[in-house]
Amino acid sequence: MSYADAYASWQADPEAFWGKAAEQIDWFKPAEKVFDPEMGVYGRWFAGATCNTCWNCVDRHVEAGNGERTALIYDSPVTDTVQAFSFSELQAEVGALASVMRAYGVGKGDRVVIYMPMVPQAVFAMLACARLGAIHSVVFGGFAPHELATRINDAAPKMIISASCGIEPGRIVHYKPLLDAAIAEAATKPDHCLILQRDMERADLIPGRDLDYAELVSQAKAAGETTECVPVAATDPLYILYTSGTTGQPKGVVRDNGGHMVALKWTMEHHYGMNPGEVFWAASDVGWVVGHSYICYGPLLHGCATVVYEGKPVGTPDAGAFWRVIQDHQVAALFTAPTAFRAIKKEDPRGLLIEQYNLSKFRTQFLAGERSDPATIQWAEEKLKRPVIDHWWQTETGWAMSGNPVGLGQLPVKYGSPGKPMPGYDIRVLDDEGHEVEPGTLGNIVCKLPLPPSGFPTLWNAPERFLTSYMNEFPGFYATSDAGIIDEDGYVFIMARTDDIINVAGHRLSTGAMEEVIGAHPDIAECAVVGAADAMKGQMPLGFYVTNDGANRDAAELEKELVALMREQIGAVAAFKTAIPVKRLPKTRSGKVLRGTMQKIADSAAFKMPAAIDDPAILDEISDALKGRGLLS
Ligand code: COA
Ligand code: AMP
Repeated sequence: MSYADAYASWQADPEAFWGKAAEQIDWFKPAEKVFDPEMGVYGRWFAGATCNTCWNCVDRHVEAGNGERTALIYDSPVTDTVQAFSFSELQAEVGALASVMRAYGVGKGDRVVIYMPMVPQAVFAMLACARLGAIHSVVFGGFAPHELATRINDAAPKMIISASCGIEPGRIVHYKPLLDAAIAEAATKPDHCLILQRDMERADLIPGRDLDYAELVSQAKAAGETTECVPVAATDPLYILYTSGTTGQPKGVVRDNGGHMVALKWTMEHHYGMNPGEVFWAASDVGWVVGHSYICYGPLLHGCATVVYEGKPVGTPDAGAFWRVIQDHQVAALFTAPTAFRAIKKEDPRGLLIEQYNLSKFRTQFLAGERSDPATIQWAEEKLKRPVIDHWWQTETGWAMSGNPVGLGQLPVKYGSPGKPMPGYDIRVLDDEGHEVEPGTLGNIVCKLPLPPSGFPTLWNAPERFLTSYMNEFPGFYATSDAGIIDEDGYVFIMARTDDIINVAGHRLSTGAMEEVIGAHPDIAECAVVGAADAMKGQMPLGFYVTNDGANRDAAELEKELVALMREQIGAVAAFKTAIPVKRLPKTRSGKVLRGTMQKIADSAAFKMPAAIDDPAILDEISDALKGRGLLS
């Protein structure tokens, strides 16, 4: 079947299309309705069905006689470790961990926060939650205690699974003290913390609350303890993943069990062109949606092996790291963010390291997470001599909204475009009044409801925010908050966010949250953070601030304090390095800060003078401040 046939067959009968895809999943009880338009805000998929995601990722492959196949490869250049787990071994690890969790009171519907580095136990923990019907919420290890505390408060976990430390090149990340600080700050406390002690740094465990992961799991394994896969409704939550919103309060995207499995299984074959038994590698982190979908669930659902990589594209030890992993583990497809390629290209512009490795099993390179600039794609294509496929998606959807489905026959690549709408997505471009625009015209990218399987049904604890953030602006459509165009051939182009989200090295960050941190400094009267273009990371945050009258602070010293505050409050991942003093911020007459215009000035991009600007002279002050810092010529 071609892409065109697949898209047409979905358009003709979405329920038949997804009903057929659902045959690839084992259900305890099949759906009464493939789609129930009466349930939830815009309908729910696979209503009435019961299932278990862990069963489909692990046990069923063992049952089918494939227990000896490799399921997970842990490759950690930062600890010099390589370790493989077969599906049977994965089943033993996950079953034992789930039995430990159950013994400490974790059951169906309970929340479990996972705050871990890129170690196999992070994936075991996700699967153990799925096995028990508990709802996991993985928090990216690069987030600071305050961000973790916010998520603990919202998810109210019964248990937190963490590690003594993480390893970033050249430094140890002391996870346990960060975790303790977060729990101290949070109003809601977990009953227990299950801590993986790592040799590089062992943590002090708090008696009564903290438990030793390895000790308890090995005891459970020795005693032959395991757990059955608990049946859950297809519409029950599998996980909550917090993502940046326009304020410091992140949005808890809810993912269900049934639709998620159906969609991800479909993508493994049709979008990524993978066969069971092959090796798929998403070089991301389990803390992001890419890690959820394509380090943990997607490959395992499809019977592929997944790679858990604890390293970087460069520096661990060099820009050949990705090619070494592909060679050593016979990776068939690699999925990463364009920023990783820009980092590799900077260190190895001629791609000489690529030639040192045997990439014979490597078929396709996939990119997502941020806009792929044509130069990066072209460089990758030329050096890898393989298809390089950009695809566009969001935490909210869990899989690609547009892409180039190599499993259905690759479409011609248009540089700068992450492909065509995937089956399930009726993507339109609307003007601000909600009218559809002509092909090739820039506008708001929206998706006609209902969202396909795996689309988020709501936000955790925030059903109203779900409506106001996504559903109300363009009735009948999901507002993606991305701006772009669809051209006359149906290719989608994603150009920018329409909200205050910036994308730094493929990481989605809220400028609003950063402004809250700067604004809380006692010497700051007001501030604005914008995302300025960056050749390596795509965007970098740039802070402007006005001090309180009489504060009389040295700018370099204040910048240091603000950078430290940002690392402490949000985390190193915010990559906040620049804070510039200005006399005033440019605003509209109604007092709205003109962040978009400030960003254009920082990027030396053309801009129209905003009609409602209060005082245009302030824009010159912003330019002068940037010139003063050598950030503008
Ligand atoms: N735990 C703790 N700290 C972390 C972390 C983690 N899991 N991940 C990143 N950090 C820290 C880094 O050490 C760095 O700290 P520093 O300021 O003290 O140096 C900071 O957060 C910024 O990290 P990052 O944005 O990753 O930049 P980098 O300079 O360390 O590396 C790249 C640059 C391009 C190599 C890196 O960004 C990369 O591999 N990107 C891939 C992006 C990706 O996987 N995105 C996921 C969506 S697909
Ligand atoms: P996240 O939810 O963290 O995956 O981030 C989603 C956002 O990243 C999207 O709304 C886009 O702004 C951006 N994004 C993701 N993939 C792409 C892509 N292929 N091209 C352009 N932007 C992308």
